[in-house]
Amino acid sequence: MRATALGAKSVFQSLFSRRPVAGQLGPTSECSPFQAAKIVRRHFVRTRFFDTADVPAEISGFEDLTFLFGTSQANYALCLLGLEEAAYLYRLVRSMVSPRVAEIGRFKGGTTFLLAAAGGLVTSIDLPLPDGREAADTDAGPVDGERLDAQLRSALQRSGLEDRVDLIQGDSRAQNPQPQSFDIVFIDGDHSYANAKADIAAWYDAVRVGGALLVHDVVRADVMIKGVPELRRLLDEFLAEQQGRFGKVATAGSVVHLRRLG
Ligand SMILES: C[S@@+](CC[C@H](N)C(=O)[O-])C[C@H]1O[C@@H](n2cnc3c(N)ncnc32)[C@H](O)[C@@H]1O
Repeated sequence: MRATALGAKSVFQSLFSRRPVAGQLGPTSECSPFQAAKIVRRHFVRTRFFDTADVPAEISGFEDLTFLFGTSQANYALCLLGLEEAAYLYRLVRSMVSPRVAEIGRFKGGTTFLLAAAGGLVTSIDLPLPDGREAADTDAGPVDGERLDAQLRSALQRSGLEDRVDLIQGDSRAQNPQPQSFDIVFIDGDHSYANAKADIAAWYDAVRVGGALLVHDVVRADVMIKGVPELRRLLDEFLAEQQGRFGKVATAGSVVHLRRLG
């Protein structure tokens, strides 16, 4: 059985959502996760070379070495970030002294943990119940907000990070954050155009002048990390509306980093 790139992509998507693979793939429906992983690995091994890599002029830590690796949704486990995205967030937090960080959408909380481990004082917001995508069908028991947060709390405690994190269960649009009350706001909640727009509207003013507004899943980053086209349009519209108040700093993987200018 020869697996195709489409087969690999669908198999990996099925690993995260457990949507049935059969029917999506036709003749390649028996592409196993192992075969799919081989396809992804082959893609990276054959397409990445030093002469086209983004080799940093200065290596200050492990987070500058992500160009050595390929990253895809197959890396996702507790933290739904690509390696280069995780490194970018980690470095950004480390570049500030105990920055106040808001995370919109935490799911299992791997990114919450990372932001706290980097030195952030993290306020993380998610609904008390899962949004229904990943929830229903894991072999590891029911996935609900209470259970995920209990696991996260205990992991934070074990690592001495519990005092750095405030886990809020609630709707991201109902929080009314104070203007300029955060150094970094990371938006990674509902990815539909309307709801992401509502998140940005509710949170952009909470970023202090000079601070960072980050939005996940905007740019198509690499094989199997998909930017959401509606989010790209939304960001373009936001930047046009906020000319002179927000400017684009960089992208890392599918994350777009905007700075509040005024
Ligand atoms: C992509 S996941 C977050 C992943 C997490 N930031 C990470 O990197 O591991 C999106 C999360 O947004 C949450 N979400 C969706 N709509 C929300 C809302 N209105 N308020 C708060 N959280 C919401 C979902 O429950 C889900 O857990």
